Amino acid sequence: MERLTEGEAIRRWTRARRAEGKRVGFVPTMGNLHAGHLSLVALAREHADVVVASIYVNPTQFDRKDDLAAYPRTLEADAALLEGAGVDALFAPANLYPYGEEAHTTWVDVDELTKELCGATRPGHFRGVTTVVAKLFHLVAPDVAVFGDKDFQQRRVIERMVRDLDFGIAIVPGPIVREADGLAMSSRNSRLGADARARAVAISRALGEARAAVSAGERDGRALEGAVRAMIEAAGGRVDYVELVDEETLSPAAELVAPSILAVAAFFDGVRLIDNARLAP
Ligand code: PAF
Repeated sequence: MERLTEGEAIRRWTRARRAEGKRVGFVPTMGNLHAGHLSLVALAREHADVVVASIYVNPTQFDRKDDLAAYPRTLEADAALLEGAGVDALFAPANLYPYGEEAHTTWVDVDELTKELCGATRPGHFRGVTTVVAKLFHLVAPDVAVFGDKDFQQRRVIERMVRDLDFGIAIVPGPIVREADGLAMSSRNSRLGADARARAVAISRALGEARAAVSAGERDGRALEGAVRAMIEAAGGRVDYVELVDEETLSPAAELVAPSILAVAAFFDGVRLIDNARLAP
């Protein structure tokens, strides 16, 4: 596996592979990798001849400085995992903001799809995500990029950016990968103490109950949201949001009349976790 830290180096690497007629797959990450990320690498491999992964903890998508500071940085262990998973090149830049992120002036802002859910409770988050992903897309110039559906809203926002700005990159969604007890895999899980880790499983259990309720005929959005919220709060979680939204527009769905996403963000002992379930009437 090639390890590259300079934008020009990854640009040259990808160009050379494409000149050989190879299709390039890309998996952008912030590191602290787990089996969920490795499933994205495997998916990229299915769609491409060579796979590039990036590791960059992007400061501009964090709305809280303490969250950025606490984000686990495990570059050497991550590089070993990626090499084991057959990644061809790792792009791990030290900094993607040449004048510092405070002095950065050019932003990519997707107007639609960013007002609800994480967009409502994490100001500036999606502007940071779309700006850094646009930078990574320009440098890596892949044919296809894979984004996990644990952050469903992020995947939809990136799809919109790619379409609106003519990136010509196919976005492939990766299914949510779960721990044995159902908790969605996340780099943030490693920050949970044993007690909070045990209680956090309430999120996926509550989403499972919502699925069962829909199978039993429940269609009322507020009832589904209320039941999920109650289960998370009973487990000591602090709910950031529980919202049923239309799968296409991400606008709130009062009733389940079309395929929708029941999305959750909740804090357990100060660690913010997200998860979701796709529900169809
Ligand atoms: O999902 C993530 O890990 C990040 O938001 C991403 C896409 C790597 C951008 O920093």
